[in-house]
Amino acid sequence: MASIPSTETATKPFSVLFVCLGNICRSPAAEAVFREIVMRRGLESKFKIDSAGTIDYHEGNQADPRMRAASKRRGVEITSISRPIRPSDFLDFDLILAMDKQNRDDILEAFNRWRLKETLPSDAHKKVRLMCSFCKKHDETEVPDPYYGGPQGFEKVLDLLEDACESLLDNILNENSLILDP
Ligand code: 4NP
Repeated sequence: MASIPSTETATKPFSVLFVCLGNICRSPAAEAVFREIVMRRGLESKFKIDSAGTIDYHEGNQADPRMRAASKRRGVEITSISRPIRPSDFLDFDLILAMDKQNRDDILEAFNRWRLKETLPSDAHKKVRLMCSFCKKHDETEVPDPYYGGPQGFEKVLDLLEDACESLLDNILNENSLILDP
């Protein structure tokens, strides 16, 4: 696994952006699950957590009711409103987590396009990782799109996200000792 970036100062929160296609199922759930784990460890002031989509089709919408209900049954409230990824995300976030390989390719393609017009650090693409690269208990390489499937798809998304988010937080803390000990 590639190493996690470090924040430059102890005061700046470590920032994580979760990205899927529509920003109404997987990435809002990832945002909520990661926030819940961060809160349980009393670290909410140390993190900035958000999510976005590679398309703007659902911009302004709440997350899919099926995703919200499945997450709520596990005690995690999804509150985010869909928005597309934007150029400043490559400046504002330390890590950008793609749910599947197509999402990752679309994020990198957008970065290459924006970089021609915007002032973005040339190495910002290194912030982009696959969510499942953090899974410890699952062999899947992608968080599958649940949108057109049945209820079991939403449970699978949450199983993968719970696994990945726990180990993502451990990795960030291991690489950023100032978060725990400023
Ligand atoms: P998400 O799921 O990328 O996990 O938010 C989807 C949401 C919407 C669509 C596809 C996937 N759609 O085709 O509109």
